[in-house]
Amino acid sequence: MGKGFFISNTVGIVGLVLSVAALSTIIALSVVYSQEKAKNNNISPTDGGTTSRPPDITTTPTPSNEPWDKYRLPKSLVPDHYNVTLWPRLAPNLTTGLYIFTGESSVEFECAEETDLILIHSNKLNYTKDNNGHLATLTSMSGDPAPTIKNSWPKPETQYLVVELNGKMIKGHRYRLFTKFTGELADDLGGFYRSVYMENGEKKVVATTQMQPTDARKAFPCFDEPAMKAVFHITLIHDQGTVALSNGEEKESKIINIEGHELQQTVFKPTEKMSTYLLAFIVSDYDFVNNTIGGVLIRIFARKSAIAAGQGQYALNKTGPILKFFENYYNSSYPLPKSDQIALPDFNAGAMENWGLITYRETALLYDESFSSNSNKQRIATIIAHELAHMWFGNLVTLRWWNDLWLNEGFASYVEYLGAHDAEPDWNVKDLIVLSDVHRVFAVDALASSHPLSSKEEDIQKPAQISELFDAISYSKGASVLRMLSDFLTEEVFTKGLQTYLAEFAFGNANYTDLWKHLQMAVDANKTELPDSVQNIMNTWVLQMGFPVVTIDTTTGAVSQKHFLLDPDSNVTTESPYNYEWIVPIKWVKTGVVQTQQWLKTQSATIIEMKTTGNDWVVANLDVVGYYRVNYDQDNWDRLLNCLSTDHKLIQVINRAQLVDDAFNLARAKIILTVQALNTTKYLINETEYMPWESAVNNLDFFYLMFDRSEVYGPMQDYLRSRVLPLFNYYKEITSSWKTVPDGHMDQYNQVNAISLACRTGYMECQGLATSWFKEWMDTEVNPIHPNLRSTVYCNAIAAGGAEEWDFAWAKFNNSNAIEADKLRYALSCTKQPWLLNRYLEYTLDPDMIRKQDATSTIVYIANNVIGQSLAWDFVRARWSYIFTEYGGGSFSFSNLINGVTERFSTEYELQQLKQFKADNSDVGFGSGTLAVDQSIERTLANMKWIAENKQNVLKWFKDATPK
Ligand SMILES: *[C@@H]1O[C@H](CO)[C@@H](O)[C@H](O)[C@H]1NC(C)=O
Ligand SMILES: *[C@@H]1O[C@H](CO)[C@@H](O)[C@H](O)[C@H]1NC(C)=O
Ligand SMILES: *[C@@H]1O[C@H](CO)[C@@H](O)[C@H](O)[C@H]1NC(C)=O
Ligand SMILES: *[C@@H]1O[C@H](CO)[C@@H](O)[C@H](O)[C@H]1NC(C)=O
Repeated sequence: MGKGFFISNTVGIVGLVLSVAALSTIIALSVVYSQEKAKNNNISPTDGGTTSRPPDITTTPTPSNEPWDKYRLPKSLVPDHYNVTLWPRLAPNLTTGLYIFTGESSVEFECAEETDLILIHSNKLNYTKDNNGHLATLTSMSGDPAPTIKNSWPKPETQYLVVELNGKMIKGHRYRLFTKFTGELADDLGGFYRSVYMENGEKKVVATTQMQPTDARKAFPCFDEPAMKAVFHITLIHDQGTVALSNGEEKESKIINIEGHELQQTVFKPTEKMSTYLLAFIVSDYDFVNNTIGGVLIRIFARKSAIAAGQGQYALNKTGPILKFFENYYNSSYPLPKSDQIALPDFNAGAMENWGLITYRETALLYDESFSSNSNKQRIATIIAHELAHMWFGNLVTLRWWNDLWLNEGFASYVEYLGAHDAEPDWNVKDLIVLSDVHRVFAVDALASSHPLSSKEEDIQKPAQISELFDAISYSKGASVLRMLSDFLTEEVFTKGLQTYLAEFAFGNANYTDLWKHLQMAVDANKTELPDSVQNIMNTWVLQMGFPVVTIDTTTGAVSQKHFLLDPDSNVTTESPYNYEWIVPIKWVKTGVVQTQQWLKTQSATIIEMKTTGNDWVVANLDVVGYYRVNYDQDNWDRLLNCLSTDHKLIQVINRAQLVDDAFNLARAKIILTVQALNTTKYLINETEYMPWESAVNNLDFFYLMFDRSEVYGPMQDYLRSRVLPLFNYYKEITSSWKTVPDGHMDQYNQVNAISLACRTGYMECQGLATSWFKEWMDTEVNPIHPNLRSTVYCNAIAAGGAEEWDFAWAKFNNSNAIEADKLRYALSCTKQPWLLNRYLEYTLDPDMIRKQDATSTIVYIANNVIGQSLAWDFVRARWSYIFTEYGGGSFSFSNLINGVTERFSTEYELQQLKQFKADNSDVGFGSGTLAVDQSIERTLANMKWIAENKQNVLKWFKDATPK
């Protein structure tokens, strides 16, 4: 899956803060599933029924030891192929009001071990009994009669259909299990579900799917584990005039008559041998644009108005070339005849790599020059690359079990940058992995409650445990360590190993150690010199949580490493097999000259060359390729600061961003002083590059959260305004007073930073600009604001305005395409009027006003507004049980929500409220947010401590540093 909670750069400062917060909470949560395991004995009733309920984190396993009480399938039956026919109804039943689908499925499997029991996954399906009164019918394919069925029943807790037989099936023989069933086509974003949109005043329904990780069983009974690969023959029944899509090519389509209705039946060619989580079935009245490249049919599907507006064109232009790029990269041709990409109005994640039919949020696929920012465009290119990368890594070769998810998602999250770079070579997009993944995940992996990349198979059993793995550690840390690996092996050796790995395991399954084995083969063949085997080096990064801070003392050349913890007082209870020691590749620069790479294998070493004399300075971790932070002796820090203030370009741009980020985080960890970190921002007065600015803005966000309600706020604003003014004027000049946009991709991003920060720090000219543009739009109905600037300009104009501006934006929100609507939805949270914020909060729980997929992030946007903070918190507290029951479906929402609304918490009073909230709702529960509640309490305490220790110094520093 593509990252679920992507925050676009155009959202600017606030958005970034949010995304970091959201990710950190997700992570914190997921890390803790081992604790979760220990306390899962407190639960609620069965949740296998038909109503949509929160994830079953809390379902108690009954202390029985029957096979159907276990979450993993026995190994006795091995599926060969399925024939599945599904008929989704795009209109509700007039009596019951329910949207449903009906289906028939026949699965042929081989009996690998003699057994009298069939367990097949099934969730929320109602079965039609056969002539013998059973929920399924068994036939033998091997001549002999099949055993008769003794009993059959659904087992909602473990999500099985259980079929007990009167005799044993014979080893090596083949059988078929037939079922007929009905399911609800709910609006719950999981399994076979419905998405709704308006077109020309008419309500349109799309039937679509999201199977990963464990919801294929909600569409039809199946052996729903990634290693249970099979061939799928899919048939869809749908209304005439609608389009049916699935993984395979369409084989035939004809009119059939069912119960007096003329319907269309579309039969698809059988799929390749594949995992259930990659299936997709979609019925819509969409349109498409298409192309053929190297014999592969590429189609982009979207609602008709979007296709008519040309919004599929960018994706169409990029998909083919990116697919070709990956064919070369993997040295393996794309195994399918077609690649469909489809944009859905309601979609929980960013995108999903279903084999041959990739699903996306509309904003992750559709591009429109008149509405899309460069950040929207980058997101499209990278998400397409991410999903196409999975066509091989993930789909062709699949990890055996979910505990290796990090390799699947980490890999795609790394190579998405390579694919996007190929599509847009002028962007330098590969550099951005440092901000978007490395720095972002550092924030969460530095917590004592983090977790290793790799989990034990036996620790990942239940669907909720599997869902929890889709976190920033898996995606961003996975990407970061694979990038480091690829760098020290060299891209050539890395891809060689990858290619033989894919060739060996094609259409099958593998473990992450299988990849290490193939990389080692490539290393050996190339005679690459490494300090240890690939496996031994990588195990230190994969099997223990966290990362080191490497300290370089340039007076002696002594280099050492230590587990980096954001809170040095925190108690690390997770044991590490390597005692928190890593094998660290150190690329470094001395006074502008790149030096030979060094390796740090133990806690400390002396590396003679790192000793310096005179004015020489050292910067380690060139381009932040290594997954670690760096600290130096004070003299080297002073020389670096001096270099930044005199000739900052001597230090490479990514490393300038690193110095800022490392300094702020070393300060949080009390390794250096907070004022020393603030010192790294002084030189920004001369900086025009995006990456260092973005790094500073991300770190200063924490200062805003902590101080925007205190006396530090004014002096902080004065100081930051003094830093950003030159940048604001620089962009004003190069855009001829905002009439054009800068050429470069990074410059375009930094222009947004310049405006966001200038307006945020109360610079009148900036605020005047935002207000006048917005007013012009209101007066003339012609929008003069460039798409790159819209999020921040709308936000500032709405913050400065009142109900009139808000209502105007709300009306536009309701009549815009998804690209524009997303920007407005964010900006609407910026008003300073409490009554408007409260009204907006109410809207978030009405799916006709704010889509379910957007509810959580909207509430969190509001909480991020200093005025909205307490309103959002009151709202969430008051409506908790409603939110919990109605919005429980999505896997990430609760942790994001709780962490988002409590991010600013830093007072004793807020701490008490949080504890009260926990106590008051213990009966309702917190679902996937359980750990977020504890994390929030921990974070609030840490914030209180930080403010107590830093407030006076920081206040004084801001006052002293501001030019009078
Ligand atoms: C609607 O649901 C009722 C009750 O389940 C059922 O009897 C009826 O046949 C359904 N109507 C249609 C058109 O399917
Ligand atoms: C599925 O359909 C194919 C093609 O019609 C047929 O050959 C096969 O026997 C069917 N298998 C099952 C399990 O029904
Ligand atoms: C399945 O059965 C349950 C219990 O009878 C019922 O409440 C639910 O509406 C049924 N679901 C569908 C989709 O028919
Ligand atoms: C695009 O689709 C149309 C309609 O199916 C087809 O006639 C045309 O050949 C396709 N074009 C390409 C380039 O594949």
